[in-house]
Parts: sequence; structure tokens; C-alpha cells
Amino acid sequence: MATEEIQSWAYDKPIRSPFALPQGVLGRLAGRLMLWLNDPSELTTLIGEQDCVLEVGCGPGGLLRHVQAERLCGIDPSPDMLRQAARHNRGRDVELRLGTAENTGYPDDSFDVVVSVNNVAMWPDLEAGVNELRRVTRPGGRLLIAWHSAIGRSPIARKNALSEEKLGRIAHALGEPTRRHELKNLTVLEKNCPG
Ligand SMILES: C[S@@+](CC[C@H](N)C(=O)[O-])C[C@H]1O[C@@H](n2cnc3c(N)ncnc32)[C@H](O)[C@@H]1O
Repeated sequence: MATEEIQSWAYDKPIRSPFALPQGVLGRLAGRLMLWLNDPSELTTLIGEQDCVLEVGCGPGGLLRHVQAERLCGIDPSPDMLRQAARHNRGRDVELRLGTAENTGYPDDSFDVVVSVNNVAMWPDLEAGVNELRRVTRPGGRLLIAWHSAIGRSPIARKNALSEEKLGRIAHALGEPTRRHELKNLTVLEKNCPG
């Protein structure tokens, strides 16, 4: 499912980074760095305890490991990342599958919370991704889209932050009102789906 490069809605040039296309040795190394660099604690608080949670673009499964849910699912287009996520969540009941934001493979209204961390700017089509995530979120559920923060503590977050114009496009695609949270290294846009 992974390709050699991604043409995303957020950048003029194709993306070739192993963080966006984690495959082979470099991809697996990128996965290890993701586990090392990303702190899931604030996001798990935002997610709360839910019945059904989906993480889109779960990478090596660092966040999944800390989420408590009756049904916990993670999708990613990279088989290497799914293998790392399975290892990192060994002994936990987590459903891991190939999938993308544009095509999750789940039926309508499946989840209480759908969360995406540091992959929205890698999606080829922002509106197609947001529409798909809304489709699989149940009425009254929540969608959380997180990306590197411009005021983050880590230089990596600040370097990779999106412009306010692009964050505005994400908020617009989610549909107003959208709540914004500034975490240590992430800007999170949260949408309550109408009940
Ligand atoms: C920088 S990593 C972030 C992984 C994880 N969420 C984390 O924070 O550690 C980006 C992930 O997005 C995945 N990805 C790339 N294109 C995607 C898409 N269209 N939909 C969902 N995930 C995608 C990549 O395979 C990769 O695992």
C-alpha cells in the first residue's frame, strides 16, 4: 500500500520522508524514533475512556498502547508500522489493519473517538480524509486531529508546524465550531460530531 512518494494537500512538493512513508530499514528506524519522541499522555487525557476508539495513521503504536477502550483499533498504510505497533502492544487487545484516512475500511458510525496524530499533512486529499473520518465517527462522537505545534517545546514540532492558513483549512474541513488545544508539542483540533 505504501508508495515511493506522497503528493499531499499540504505541500507543493512530493514527500519522500521515511516518517511519512515508513518502509524498510529507514522506515523502521523512523518508527523507533516516533516511539521515543512522542509523548502520548496529554492526548490520552483528551481522548478519555471510551467504548470504541480508532487511531488513523497509528505508526508504531505509541499512542494506542496508552489508550483505554473496550474496542481499540489502529490503521496505517505501512505494513512495517503495523508490525511495530503489534510488537509494541503485545498482550493488549488492539485491532490493527492496513488503511488510510481516505479509506479506513470501517462501517459508518463505528467509533466514539477517531484520532489522527502527525499524519494529516501527509494525506493526499484533506476533505476526502476528514469526510471518511466523520463517516466512521458515531453521532455525538469526537474527531481529534493533531499535528506538530508551532509553539511546541521540541524544535522538531516547531520546524514541522503548519501555517495558520493550513490549520484553518483543517478546521474548515471539520466544520465549525472546532475546538483548539495547544499541548506540549501538538496542536489539536477537536470536532464534536452532531448527535
Ligand atoms: C510521522 S508518522 C506518525 C505516527 C504516529 N501517529 C505517531 O504519532 O507516532 C506518520 C504516519 O502516517 C502514516 N500515513 C501516511 N499516509 C497516510 C494516510 N493517507 N492516512 C493515514 N496514515 C497515513 C504513515 O504510514 C506513518 O505511520
